[in-house]
Amino acid sequence: MKTSDIRIKFLKFFESKGHTILPSSSLVPKNDQTLLFTNSGMVQFKDIFTGYEVSNYKSVVTSQRCFRAGGKHNDLDNVGYTARHHTFFEMLGNFSFGKYFKREAIHYAWELLTIIYKIPKNKLLVTVYYDDDEAYNIWNKEIGLDPDVIIRIGDNKGSKYASDNFWQMADVGPCGPCSEIFYDHGSDVYGGPPGTDDSDGDRYVEIWNLVFMQFYIDVNGEITTLSTPCIDTGMGLERIAAVLQGVNSNYDIDIFKNLIKSSASLINIDDLSNNSLKVISDHIRATAFLIVDGVLPANDGRGYVLRRIIRRALRHAYKLGENEVFLYKLIPDLIHEMGTAYPEIVSGSNLIIRILKQEEERFIETLANGMKILNSNLNNMKSGDIFSGDILFNLYDTYGFPADLTADVCREHGISVDIESFELAMSKQRDKARLSGKFKSSNALINYSGPATIFDGYKIFDLSAKVIAIYVDSKFVDSIGTKDSANIILDRTPFYAESGGQVGDKGFLISDTANFFVKNTTLFSSVFVHAGYLESGSIKVGDILRASIDIENRKNISRNHSATHIMHKALRNVLGMHAVQKGSLVDSDRIRFDFAHDSSVSIDQIKEIERISNEEILSNYLVNISNMEYNDAIKSGAIAMFSEKYDDNVRVVQIGSSLELCGGTHVNRTGDIGLFKIISESSVSSGVRRIDAVTGNNALKFIQSQYDTCLDLSASLNTSISNIVAKVTDQINCIKEREKENFFLGKRT
Ligand code: ALA
Repeated sequence: MKTSDIRIKFLKFFESKGHTILPSSSLVPKNDQTLLFTNSGMVQFKDIFTGYEVSNYKSVVTSQRCFRAGGKHNDLDNVGYTARHHTFFEMLGNFSFGKYFKREAIHYAWELLTIIYKIPKNKLLVTVYYDDDEAYNIWNKEIGLDPDVIIRIGDNKGSKYASDNFWQMADVGPCGPCSEIFYDHGSDVYGGPPGTDDSDGDRYVEIWNLVFMQFYIDVNGEITTLSTPCIDTGMGLERIAAVLQGVNSNYDIDIFKNLIKSSASLINIDDLSNNSLKVISDHIRATAFLIVDGVLPANDGRGYVLRRIIRRALRHAYKLGENEVFLYKLIPDLIHEMGTAYPEIVSGSNLIIRILKQEEERFIETLANGMKILNSNLNNMKSGDIFSGDILFNLYDTYGFPADLTADVCREHGISVDIESFELAMSKQRDKARLSGKFKSSNALINYSGPATIFDGYKIFDLSAKVIAIYVDSKFVDSIGTKDSANIILDRTPFYAESGGQVGDKGFLISDTANFFVKNTTLFSSVFVHAGYLESGSIKVGDILRASIDIENRKNISRNHSATHIMHKALRNVLGMHAVQKGSLVDSDRIRFDFAHDSSVSIDQIKEIERISNEEILSNYLVNISNMEYNDAIKSGAIAMFSEKYDDNVRVVQIGSSLELCGGTHVNRTGDIGLFKIISESSVSSGVRRIDAVTGNNALKFIQSQYDTCLDLSASLNTSISNIVAKVTDQINCIKEREKENFFLGKRT
């Protein structure tokens, strides 16, 4: 049976049992901070299991694309070494949201496997959670399985509920005991039944996991009971395909066989059983689907996992003698295998090919250099040795060769790496970098134990405050005199301190006798530091000062900050949902905004982003700011930066159709922004672009200065502004003609 037929039969079987067929969701879970990637079929239904959302359906069935590399379920290191592990795979699953529970789930599974898929009953065995007598009895009394093929498994992973037969999606989330169904590939394959010491072999392979979702585990590991018991099942499509196609390894099923053949012919090798070909065929699928779901290669988060997988695939190709970029050439083969089930890889093929080729080109030279050094070190080592942490660090630091790749290569030689020394070298380097940077300015505060500063500056721009501490350079002092530069800490302040991309406020701290100019405000832990210069008088600890921010400066900053949110939303509308924020700087002059995108943004796209943003501004929406529980904010669709840490209670800023978690300052109504204009678009690094933009008076100034240039040109060319282009084109043509004539004249003389 072809893999595509197995997929269809599964969906149709459950449809005939009253389930609704739903499409696979993205590999990037929607607004779920607890999860890096969609790692099973139930992820898109998490909120239904917890009771947070009500489903339109009582039972559904899906074939879900999944990814298990990074995060709680990580199979990356097993890929290429076992017959059944993948980074990317498809999970077939049926789900009940309170419609049925254990009995039906078990009966359906058995019927599908033995009647529809026609697997001989004596090839199957099952496990149940050790105290789940209900499941045990259904298997034994209703299905008729012998007790010796119903294996009870307890908490075999070191703590309560840490068990092969207790499933949880992530450290936090719905969970419950499960019953797994295994297929016996026969005695000529190594491995023991579940629960035995050699169960890791490939003989007994888990093909289907039936999870009885009954509980919810919270951040503290506390377990509570779900209001409605649900069913979540997952069957690896590749594993069941191996069973039904009569092969022992997932890599021998139709999809993989073809991908392996194509890789081998591109690399020009004959041995199709080579493990590196398995790794490549696994990783090409993972790569393509990650890119199509909006992940781009990067140095952190999801992007780093993608980068790591591409590099790993390249390294395996290098091992087979391939020194050139080649992975992207496999995309047409992948589309041939999977394009019908997943039309998104067909429509996204240009993007996949472009990103992959670009990333391969970036790494191919590093790979060759690093491998030479690595191999020369490995030549003097033998299995059981430990690879030096210093060389590991040097390879990484000097040659850009990733440590995980070194570890991967070493593992193949039976050599482990000294990760502790490597980490030590890394942390020394980080300290060095920190000491030479901003750390210096705040080291006076390292042992500071004064109270947190109360920030009142969202609505109030001017207030009375008491001086709590003063420090000059890194020493605390009791007082300062005229012309001293110093840092002042107050009990409360209207000054916004630099954070979340927004610069700190400027302004004055004033008493009857003193005038202190605040040139910047920064945050150290929860203490606000007003850095500046005493223009006149003296200030001592305990003084009461009037703290006044520069209101015009703040208004400009707020315009830029609100416009940043509006632009972020518009960017994603125009370029796609992958164009997420990677960094930003908002000051009183301009917006600098970095975002994920792999190619330059066209003039037409820029105009569209400007048009949408200015439309929001013209609509003069009221900016709504509220505080709420983090989970509620995410549920309401607010955007959070994946790399940021948030408190349980968060500030949610709604501007027009944009909704973001944000601690910054904003305008009251979008109309306060006045005008929004993008002034440049450029590349920051691979996969990251930058937009510089201006708002309000700065936007007007920018447009006026461009217009001045047009006026100057029109005067010099003695023509109207609308005719400048035609006139310049004429003149250029004229110059070219003259040059041509001169050239021929020169030839004749
Ligand atoms: N969610 C369950 C699993 O992934 C079915 O095994």
